Amino acid sequence: MTSDVLIIGGGIIGLACGVELRLRGANVTVLCRDFTAAASHAAAGMLAPDAENIPNEAMLALCRRSRNLYLDWTQKLAELTTGKDLNNTGYWSCGILAPVYQQPKDTGDKTAYWLDQDAINQYQPGLGADVVGGWWYPEDGQVDNRALIKVLRTAADSLGVVFQDGITVEAISQQQGKVIGVQTNTGLFRADHYLLTAGAWVNQLLPLPVRPRKGQMLSLRVPDFLTELPLTRVLFGENIYIVPRRNRSIIIGATNEDVEFTADNTPGGIQNLLQSAIRLYPQLENYPIQELWWGFRPATPDELPILGHSDCDNLTFATGHHRNGILLAPITATLIADLICEQKADPLLANFHYSRFSTVSSTTIPMLIHATPATNGHRNPEISDLIIPDSPLVIAGKSFKSRLMTGTGKYRHIQEMQQSVTASGCQIVTVAVRRVQTNAPGHEGLAEALDWSKIWMLPNTAGCQTAEEAIRVARLGREMAKLLGQEDNNFVKLEVIPDAKYLLPDPIGTLQAAEQLVKEGFAVLPYINADPMLAKRLEEVGCATVMPLAAPIGSGQGLKTTANIQIIIENAKIPVVVDAGIGAPSEAAEAMELGADALLINSAIALAENAPAMAYAMNLATVAGRMAYLAGRMPMKNYASASSPLTGTITG
Ligand code: GLY
Repeated sequence: MTSDVLIIGGGIIGLACGVELRLRGANVTVLCRDFTAAASHAAAGMLAPDAENIPNEAMLALCRRSRNLYLDWTQKLAELTTGKDLNNTGYWSCGILAPVYQQPKDTGDKTAYWLDQDAINQYQPGLGADVVGGWWYPEDGQVDNRALIKVLRTAADSLGVVFQDGITVEAISQQQGKVIGVQTNTGLFRADHYLLTAGAWVNQLLPLPVRPRKGQMLSLRVPDFLTELPLTRVLFGENIYIVPRRNRSIIIGATNEDVEFTADNTPGGIQNLLQSAIRLYPQLENYPIQELWWGFRPATPDELPILGHSDCDNLTFATGHHRNGILLAPITATLIADLICEQKADPLLANFHYSRFSTVSSTTIPMLIHATPATNGHRNPEISDLIIPDSPLVIAGKSFKSRLMTGTGKYRHIQEMQQSVTASGCQIVTVAVRRVQTNAPGHEGLAEALDWSKIWMLPNTAGCQTAEEAIRVARLGREMAKLLGQEDNNFVKLEVIPDAKYLLPDPIGTLQAAEQLVKEGFAVLPYINADPMLAKRLEEVGCATVMPLAAPIGSGQGLKTTANIQIIIENAKIPVVVDAGIGAPSEAAEAMELGADALLINSAIALAENAPAMAYAMNLATVAGRMAYLAGRMPMKNYASASSPLTGTITG
């Protein structure tokens, strides 16, 4: 089935984007695995940019813009669904009261009004006796998120958005920097453009750092004997909020638990919520309990969403909205539709680009020499100003500053390996899954030996002689990365090497294994002989890089395959990583000067007399080679040409 835009994820973000894109003329299909599982159903529907005390300026601006769109947006949805049963979203600009138990310092927040104890009790009678005052956020409000998502679905249906529930996306197939289709349990779906809105489940498809953050919730019912609603504003306390609906439900939320996808409500979770809620508004103690539930917020490491372009021209991200998916739905839909339909990028989007999660350490630019300021008042440019800014190395959507990868094998002892990894400045370390499994020398204690929160593990299938073995070991590698806390790591360095003497990779087995692993959602980095045709085929089946060898593994013979590597670099649209055979920094620099995107060096470092010093030398050489490549070398000439030109000199 084909459409203009295929949206993967049928929660509020997917639906809001679907409706907006359709309104702008696109044919839209939304794929959804389980409509009821989306965090959108679990939320309380607070629209609380001010009360949530969002510390990040760009996020605060985004949230406020979205809240300010809410009235028009919900009215538009009501118009789109006029005459339908479900056209009331319960949007209510009711304001939010944030009672406190201790006198606060002035926050300087101009959107909040301080109410002392008397004033807050006038605003809201019946608060806990130990409430000393509170903040009033008049511009915040709420929406009935469950009603809203039903209205959105009705609107989507009436506009002709195709909504397919019960579809599991198994892999997003990419070729040459483009998505070419998504594989699902019911077949292949294709579109001109793809939008990924899969919330807490997104990293099952692509290595985005989004993890589930469980929230438990419950609702009470206003007892029938009360004729008027006792609460008409959201109460926002410490780790608790109470959201009164006009339909007499009162929503109480929410825990914030890092427990993966562990289902169910727990006594501890519900007890905490009830205790805090009753302290804030004691008469809730006697209200009937209506419902208990839980859901999974999609949380990123910085708790900001991931919005905007991906590495593929035709794939856009809108995910990771954490606590603010309901609030951010209208602005997300607007900005994403601007981006997809009009190629218009709102300046705010730059703050939410996925590339901000490139890993921490970087290849250092060695010894920046600062030029002395000139005396004529003009500032001399510093050397650092003259350096050509480099883009990060991007592999399967993940960014790295360092272009040198290393390994863990062949070191004399573990400290030497640790020091060398640090000195190399590398951010990717390859690990032989089989050797870890069999506790081969140098592979014990690897989990503790390196800081896997900073180093990205590249599991490799070394020791596999056939495609089948390599596929099996790749799957084990993915589990190994998960155990190290890299939930979103789907990388595998694919090695299929039948012969033990020359250790040359089997091109046919490598291609077969790569095809299968790409289908299974792996980011495949195949180790190959420097064969340009094979490199092209691997790129076509969706590999994330190609890794041609410079010379046989561990031989330290240097660049023996220069001509072929040059052809591979010229033709590749994916990163080319020169792997194996480099023996000295001069060869590392030479490979980078040719235009390789990165290098993988293990033996030349581990077997050097002083491994950490050699690791540092390789670090410098990689940076130097890259800089030289960006700077553009002078053309070679057959004859000498004087360094000081003769024009203008006095002769005779
Ligand atoms: N927006 C509130 C929460 O996620 O708990």
